[in-house]
Amino acid sequence: MNAHDVASTMRNDLAGFVGDIERLEAIFATWDENQQAAVGTYKLAIEKLNGEALRRLVRALKTDPAALAAMKSAIADEVVYAVLRRHDIVKASLNERVEAALEGVRPMLASHGGDVELVKVKPPSVEVRFIGACDGCPASALTFHAGVKKAVQDACPEITDIIQVKGLGGSEEGGVRFVSPFALGDKGSWVAAGLLSEIPDGAVRSTVIDGEKVLLSRSGASVTCFQNACAHLGLPIHDGEVENGIITCPHHGFQYDLSSGECLTAPEVQLQAHAVRVIGARVEVRISK
Ligand code: FES
Repeated sequence: MNAHDVASTMRNDLAGFVGDIERLEAIFATWDENQQAAVGTYKLAIEKLNGEALRRLVRALKTDPAALAAMKSAIADEVVYAVLRRHDIVKASLNERVEAALEGVRPMLASHGGDVELVKVKPPSVEVRFIGACDGCPASALTFHAGVKKAVQDACPEITDIIQVKGLGGSEEGGVRFVSPFALGDKGSWVAAGLLSEIPDGAVRSTVIDGEKVLLSRSGASVTCFQNACAHLGLPIHDGEVENGIITCPHHGFQYDLSSGECLTAPEVQLQAHAVRVIGARVEVRISK
């Protein structure tokens, strides 16, 4: 495929834009140094122009309180937020800075077979939880004070209270509101999976994340994610009836507990789970490969 092929098959939706960019970047990577430099410069010039236009637009909107309020609500949209962040028009949120600080100490924790996850950000406090070998380790108090606490406080001076919590899960307001138990053992990247409000409470939503057809299920602030494939014949189950947290496959009636993926009809099988976390209004999924 070359750039002409990409141009002739471009789509007009978000997934299409992302796919087109990835296909073009793969093509550019095969070009020689001069061609790549020309593309890079052209891209930078366009980005600068777009950034300047967005800055002027935001500056103008800020003068009107109603427009400012609408703009703040629009920033909850992950695409709007990502583009404005890229142009440095919105600053990194407190959540992002805390996450970045934790990311910085993860290699040290990983060398001891452990990890840390963000439970809740509620200024001026942040709650974190040690997982893996760090959980319950007698040295974890020292690790906590020397590493995690210092990293978070260095990155976020407005945080004065950092609390180590025990156990699984979280559901408080703000920050990371929910992390599925399936998140603990998985590796890989968290991928945006839309807004919490886009998943009907007590029901399911089918979507494609990272090329995988998945089923998102919500119960209040808790979200689970499974491969959208029945363990019976692998057919999609998103059209199944959901009642009291149980989905019934529309094809032959296998039933699954949506909090765990456990199959109630044939206990030896289950839906394949993917890790989920809810950060504020956003849902992120880590696909198990
Ligand atoms: S494919 Fe789901 S019960 Fe048969």
